[in-house]
Amino acid sequence: MNDLIIGAVLLFTGNAAVFAQPTHDTHRYGTCQQFDVPINASAEGAIFDLTHIDDNISARSWAIIEDTRTTLRGADRIIKNITISGTFNIHVQLCQPHSSNGAGAIQIATHGGHYDSRYWDSKYQPEQHSYVEAALKAGYPILTYDRLGAGKSDLPDAYSGVQAGLELEILKELTLMARNRSIGSGSTASQSDSPRIIHVGHSFGSFLTSAFIATYPELSDAAVITGYVATEYLALAGYTPWAAQYAKAAQRPFDRTPGYIVNQKSGIQNIFFAGDPDTAFTKELLDYGDEIKQPVPIGELASGYKLVGLPGLNYTGLLHFMLAEFDTFVCAGDCNGVTNATALKKSYPKAAALEVDIQPNTGHALPLHNNATAGFEVSFDFLKRNGF
Ligand SMILES: *[C@@H]1O[C@H](CO)[C@@H](O)[C@H](O)[C@H]1NC(C)=O
Ligand SMILES: *[C@@H]1O[C@H](CO)[C@@H](O)[C@H](O)[C@H]1NC(C)=O
Ligand SMILES: *[C@@H]1O[C@H](CO)[C@@H](O)[C@H](O)[C@H]1NC(C)=O
Ligand SMILES: *[C@@H]1O[C@H](CO)[C@@H](O)[C@H](O)[C@H]1NC(C)=O
Ligand SMILES: *[C@@H]1O[C@H](CO)[C@@H](O)[C@H](O)[C@H]1NC(C)=O
Ligand SMILES: *[C@@H]1O[C@H](CO)[C@@H](O)[C@H](O)[C@H]1NC(C)=O
Ligand SMILES: *[C@@H]1O[C@H](CO)[C@@H](O)[C@H](O)[C@H]1NC(C)=O
Repeated sequence: MNDLIIGAVLLFTGNAAVFAQPTHDTHRYGTCQQFDVPINASAEGAIFDLTHIDDNISARSWAIIEDTRTTLRGADRIIKNITISGTFNIHVQLCQPHSSNGAGAIQIATHGGHYDSRYWDSKYQPEQHSYVEAALKAGYPILTYDRLGAGKSDLPDAYSGVQAGLELEILKELTLMARNRSIGSGSTASQSDSPRIIHVGHSFGSFLTSAFIATYPELSDAAVITGYVATEYLALAGYTPWAAQYAKAAQRPFDRTPGYIVNQKSGIQNIFFAGDPDTAFTKELLDYGDEIKQPVPIGELASGYKLVGLPGLNYTGLLHFMLAEFDTFVCAGDCNGVTNATALKKSYPKAAALEVDIQPNTGHALPLHNNATAGFEVSFDFLKRNGF
């Protein structure tokens, strides 16, 4: 009993101290706060057989080795199984809409590789490119966070400190905290029941979101999976087009340990920007996509296989897949015809509703293309039609 009380007080004091920091919030359709949440988590991980990266040449060699057809993948490259556990500081942004849509749901959005939570909240033309602004405008509270190993969250060892299973547990903890309102209360605090949770993902964040609804189906009420579907085309483009540098030695260096790589700008374009170059995106959007890029720890990539293609046989929530039409990473450049709702229903037989849409003339970084807001609306329409 005493322990519980002390725990609650610490949590409260921790948040209160952070809330006291002045933040200049520029959001138009809601109010946002940024703070760090300490999260205890533990998961099975592994020491993988990986290239040691501590300069530009070894970074490029890593990609070439990864793309070699005979290189071992998945569990076959495990040298040793380990348990990864600790208390990790996770940097979050929590936003409450000025006017709620009354659905009593909160979105939790998980970004992909090469980015942090800013992926969801463009400061460049936010009215056209910030998913957070669009969600607030549509009346949804939204929690975004920097995944472990990215942005302002903790940046553990790149080989064995940041792995898929651990990140899944961190998402679980954030979800439990949103459900019991130890974060994310605000405008919905008057309601005594738990808020419904809408999990949103992009790319590696969608690996996590889809694995989450497969592993913890009872903890998610709706999922919006963007920039990911598990087909034979996923990651066919390989790692070489990333034009990886060692993060610490990059043209714009990052303070990171060995094993963190960062794309050159050409690699950012190769993976994230596609469609008709005259109409799909602008030079400014590509500049912005390069400006907010983040290093990636290679152990996370090596462990990603654990998250991919898990069927959600017990998932009873809503499910929306939003694919970018010309996604290089997910569909080898063309998502038309790679999947459909009938095919996916086999993996999610109990989903309350399932829809697949393709955002036209768009590459992998969906928010950073010209018609982004119309794409966000497609997901919100799906949610609203189904009671969220
Ligand atoms: C987190 O883990 C540490 C070390 O195992 C433990 O002392 C602490 O009580 C845990 N905190 C919570 C909130 O569970
Ligand atoms: C690691 O654990 C997996 C099962 O989780 C097992 O299949 C594999 O053989 C183990 N690998 C090693 C090297 O111990
Ligand atoms: C809410 O959930 C979190 C995550 O599981 C837990 O650490 C915390 O103690 C819970 N808080 C309350 C008030 O139940
Ligand atoms: C690594 O490569 C980048 C891009 O070519 C270059 O700007 C940087 O100077 C290189 N770093 C070192 C230490 O050579
Ligand atoms: C689905 O739920 C049933 C019963 O609740 C359980 O026995 C089964 O293991 C679950 N299947 C999966 C894939 O989680
Ligand atoms: C949907 O996918 C299934 C399985 O791949 C295929 O058999 C079916 O023809 C597709 N339906 C449409 C309308 O494309
Ligand atoms: C913009 O996106 C919407 C939603 O996907 C789509 O209906 C519309 O055709 C797109 N407009 C253009 C010019 O691509």
